[in-house]
Amino acid sequence: MNVAAALSPAETVFAYHARTKHSLKRYAAGPETLDWDMQPNPFREFEGCARTTLEPGAGRLDTGFAQASTQGGVSAAALTIESLASLLELSMGLSAWKEYGPDRWAVRCNPSSGNLHPTEAYVFSSNVPGIHDGVHHYLSRDHVLELRYESDNRPEEPARLWIGLSSVHWREAWKYGERAFRYCQLDVGHALGALRYAAGALGWRATLVEDVDSAELAAMMGLDRVDAFADVEREEADLLIAIETAPGTNRAAERFPGFVRHGDGNRWAGRANLLDPHPLYRWPVIEQVSQATQGRGTGLPSEFQGYPPLHRANEVRAAEIILGRRSAQRFDSKCWMSADTFYRLLDGLLDRPNAPWDVWNFAPRVHPVFFVHRVEGLDPGVYAMPRHPAAVQALREQLRGDFEWQAPENLPAHLPFFRLLRTDCRIIARTMNCHQAIAADSCFSLSMLGEFEPVVSANPWRYRQLHWEAGLLGHALYLEAEAAGLRGTGIGCYFDDALHEVLGLVTTQFQSLYHFTVGRPLTDDRISTLPAYPDRPVPPSRESRP
Ligand SMILES: Cc1cc2nc3c(=O)[nH]c(=O)nc-3n(C[C@H](O)[C@H](O)[C@H](O)COP(=O)(O)O)c2cc1C
Repeated sequence: MNVAAALSPAETVFAYHARTKHSLKRYAAGPETLDWDMQPNPFREFEGCARTTLEPGAGRLDTGFAQASTQGGVSAAALTIESLASLLELSMGLSAWKEYGPDRWAVRCNPSSGNLHPTEAYVFSSNVPGIHDGVHHYLSRDHVLELRYESDNRPEEPARLWIGLSSVHWREAWKYGERAFRYCQLDVGHALGALRYAAGALGWRATLVEDVDSAELAAMMGLDRVDAFADVEREEADLLIAIETAPGTNRAAERFPGFVRHGDGNRWAGRANLLDPHPLYRWPVIEQVSQATQGRGTGLPSEFQGYPPLHRANEVRAAEIILGRRSAQRFDSKCWMSADTFYRLLDGLLDRPNAPWDVWNFAPRVHPVFFVHRVEGLDPGVYAMPRHPAAVQALREQLRGDFEWQAPENLPAHLPFFRLLRTDCRIIARTMNCHQAIAADSCFSLSMLGEFEPVVSANPWRYRQLHWEAGLLGHALYLEAEAAGLRGTGIGCYFDDALHEVLGLVTTQFQSLYHFTVGRPLTDDRISTLPAYPDRPVPPSRESRP
């Protein structure tokens, strides 16, 4: 009997979440051996599609990072093939090739667990100068568009643009086994954030189209086409983003690209490549949880909390930060971060009508708990930042009864930030994060507590969306840390219930969905950095920072 079939979608999700927890005694089920030479191909491409070459010129954009994060912070670029190329380059594009001995690997503007990059991007274009109307797959390796579906020209309509995201779960499952679905969803959240910041650098907005469900989206992206995916790894549809290139031109609330839904099946082209010719394992629970979380969700019109506006210096260019973003692999364990910088990073996590929080109408449901190690003027210890007023009470009820809930001295008045416990938490942080030193040698690390059981019970699709929110938090931290001259690293490997126990969580009203860490990076000089697109003209300003 298929056990999953007997469970409701919400029960399937809860069972998946429980069985994919890492614990101090055992890791979630995953491959026992890995043959590194047999890694799945990190680049999906479609044979038999017309290709459009894009120029990698985004490094030249001079929008400041603060401007890129603010709605209307910079005048909107015209929607052309060049500006679309910049949007893709700054979000899903390569930022460099790395080389160490015989090994060579690409890194991208969007981070990904294990650098496995399960997230694929599809462009829906209508009347964009220089590009066919229709659906294109973006191949980041070559910075090209592959035309999968050509639609009729509709010259009377304004130029419009959408981006769809999908996941090849196998890329992640190859290495991480059953827990991989969670990582894929976190990666989607990062990609959503990357698209929002990239849109901001062009004076545009990126907004989740809520009114489309997973099956419709799969059909629009051509992911349900048996001919295109016969005998190769499937892609699952995740989300659709409307790009608003000038106020009111492509609001997400308007209907999505109808030209594809009503399209003619004969207009599809392309066969997906095989990524892993010799898969050694199968993880059926990933398929089950993916099915159980299909659907859609609609947030309520935003109720931003009216935090005072951000005032930031614009000195650093957004493109420089985005192209230079990297995960720290080691931290300087002697580095102290200033309180100003720390609070600026926290400020970037507040739910405001700016990047990346204006991507949707969902109220914040993910709340960081910080493990502060080295922030000047702040006692080392455990701190909480409920990102919604209602979460303060809920967290107080669920977390340990002896936590202090005190505002630290000299806290900027608008920050909902509370000290829970003064303590040296370096050993705990390291242990909880699968014994990774990056969680303790940094200036601080954090765990993101998602409002879990009630939200997922009401709509299992929210399991995905909660992970996307956690990914957005991670992405904001990556870029804000980079802007502050520091560096972050996402942490997907942590011992779920051991962490919950430390915080006193006994129910599943909250669950930790993602961890992160920030500090001053130590770089490995043995690894060399090469240009992302060596055979294309590269402007001098696009060099990655060390
Ligand atoms: C969801 C997610 C989970 C991650 N988990 C870990 C982790 O547990 N440990 C770690 O050292 N790095 C982790 N990383 C960092 C990735 O390894 C890194 O993003 C990837 O190697 C690509 O490098 P880049 O971020 O410099 O582009 C994670 C990243 C993401 C997005």
